[in-house]
Amino acid sequence: MMKRYLVIGNPIEHSLSPKLHNFWLKKYNVNAIYEKKKLNESELPHIILEIKKRKIDGINITVPFKKIIIPLLEKLSPEAEKTQSVNTIFLKNDNVVGHNTDINGFEYAIKESNIDIKNKKIFILGAGGVVSSLIFALNKMMASEIIISNRTKQKAEDLKKIFNDIKIVNWGELPESDVIINATSIGLNITDRINLDFSKVGKNKFFYDVIYNPKETNFLQIGKQTGNKSENGKLMFIYQAAFAFKLWHGINPEVSKETIELLD
Ligand code: ATR
Repeated sequence: MMKRYLVIGNPIEHSLSPKLHNFWLKKYNVNAIYEKKKLNESELPHIILEIKKRKIDGINITVPFKKIIIPLLEKLSPEAEKTQSVNTIFLKNDNVVGHNTDINGFEYAIKESNIDIKNKKIFILGAGGVVSSLIFALNKMMASEIIISNRTKQKAEDLKKIFNDIKIVNWGELPESDVIINATSIGLNITDRINLDFSKVGKNKFFYDVIYNPKETNFLQIGKQTGNKSENGKLMFIYQAAFAFKLWHGINPEVSKETIELLD
């Protein structure tokens, strides 16, 4: 029987997950379909029940449900538990299980950029849903220090309750670091400008933006203009999907040039 997969979120119109998953499903001859569905929070229990009843075989979760889905699940992987963030759901031994593939997605993307995180100082802008996954991965990659800055400081303080070793600086400050990550939503609109002073940022830094559409945010432009290496979040997006695909279908999909160009 044809299996059915979904990505749920709100908004969801612009999600590229169906395009990517359906490309791999076809390539590897898997009898399944992957669709997107816009939901309200009140509809989440019903969709989880559909997993339990095997009417849906797997779900990807995106903004704004990655955290609020958790009480509805029966089991969490250690990564999902620690980050309090779930992006992939499946049924295992009759239990609805939540996992987080954003962590490995980010780790693989960073490795592809040939950046060695070990002993590096990392500065993260933002404290939204994705940041706990970034911190988890950066700790795994042995970053020496992680500094967070968020407009709403309390949200950075909340992250420090989970990851005691992180440091927090006020929004507007630019501490010395080797890697600067934009994990805010600033840049999603092409006209967005990040109101930080990067004039003294220096050289040999790596500017990484979680955003991949638009391809080059104002933050990444600043990285380039100041003579630094920069990379957008496209590979992170592709690899989080690849790890979900592997969980659901047992196939490690190839991330080829064709895959990458699919999302242009
Ligand atoms: P959520 O906070 O619901 O998880 P998100 O899209 O994951 O949503 O996170 C958005 C991030 O971008 C937050 O860190 C947000 O800062 P606040 O916590 O202060 O809201 C940040 N952000 C969005 N617009 C911003 C702006 N104009 N200036 C500074 N930070 C901004």
